[in-house]
Amino acid sequence: MAFSVVLLPGDGIGPEVIHAAQRVLERVATVCHCELEFTTRLIGGTALKAGAPPLPDETIVAAKRADAVLLGAVGDPSFDHLPPGSRPESGLLALRREMGVYANLRPAKSWTGLEDAGPLKPAVLAGTDLIVVRELLGGLYYGEPRGWDRATGCAINTLRYSQPEVERIARLAFELARGRRKRVVSVDKANVLETSQLWRAVVTDIAMSYPEVHLSHEYVDACAMKLACAPASFDVVLTENLFGDILSDEAGAVCGSLGLLPSASVGAGPGLFEPVHGSAPSIAGKNLANPCGAILSAAMMLRLGLRLPMAADLIERAVGDALQAGLRTPDLASPGTAVSSTSAFTDAVIQRILG
Ligand code: NAD
Ligand code: IPM
Ligand code: MN
Repeated sequence: MAFSVVLLPGDGIGPEVIHAAQRVLERVATVCHCELEFTTRLIGGTALKAGAPPLPDETIVAAKRADAVLLGAVGDPSFDHLPPGSRPESGLLALRREMGVYANLRPAKSWTGLEDAGPLKPAVLAGTDLIVVRELLGGLYYGEPRGWDRATGCAINTLRYSQPEVERIARLAFELARGRRKRVVSVDKANVLETSQLWRAVVTDIAMSYPEVHLSHEYVDACAMKLACAPASFDVVLTENLFGDILSDEAGAVCGSLGLLPSASVGAGPGLFEPVHGSAPSIAGKNLANPCGAILSAAMMLRLGLRLPMAADLIERAVGDALQAGLRTPDLASPGTAVSSTSAFTDAVIQRILG
């Protein structure tokens, strides 16, 4: 049986890292005797430059029909002057909404061999293995009313959450925790925000159905601090849209580089798999980008989207082996040590996928 995968390379380093991920997927498909059919569609600034909207209709149709969607990044400084609703990034937000992917899973861990790559002392990072469960379709990103009234000099965004929105993401986080170390930290700002008070009440309620999972609550400011001081203390970090966006970048940096982090956005239909990083315009087109986030997103796609866990394992193991062997894109390298290009790192991963 062939699986249809829609590739959305997007902007900046997106095309480079998606090319890397596609090469790795082709290798693993050969080794595992499975068939992947790729089609490529436009999104973001690349779509705008082709005279289309940031999320063309044909991209929506293809994404909804696919078995899974793999996205690179969106965002292009040449469109930074546009209002949020017209920018490349709006294409990604609209795609998430069209696909109904309400849960964004962002795993972050300490890789063997990379203990020195990040800003933390290796002993502090040791044993870190967490997953941010980020609510993806609510909160400030989508709340109405919103806008910037230049006449009055006022701008508004609306932070809104409903009970069902919190319930579904909380259930998913507890289900995930059951198969892990059985700890959920729910992150909010309940000392200030009503939406966070609702969040905390609903999460506490859902926790009653999961007595084997330990729930604690943390304010987002304290959580950001603890993520830097004691990352290994976290298992599942459950949080709302904006807090999850911020905390997951921090988790990436803590583990060595934002370029390492993959993600899976899931809902009722096909999943959307995307690295956590953005389009990194300053290094785009230079063969310098770390492809791990995209390659590991492809592995999440195989595991969660296509139900091919052995193929996913092969990729994750090959990435781990390449890192352990000392291969480093510039974001991971210590000064004066050898660096690999995006394509050379990808070659090294492919060589380590053994049939
Ligand atoms: P960014 O994630 O693109 O870059 C942040 C920093 O990390 C930069 O120094 C960049 O060079 C570095 N970096 C990121 N990914 C890397 C990789 N794979 N390898 C090596 N280094 C990497 O964030 P930004 O600079 O704040 O935003 C740039 C653009 O990307 C903006 O237009 C923003 O809106 C967009 N963005 C898109 C996504 C997405 O598509 N999911 C995510 C974040 C930002
Ligand atoms: C991410 C990005 C996006 C977000 C932007 C580009 C809309 O930062 O995927 O983390 O904020 O969700
Ligand atoms: Mn982000």
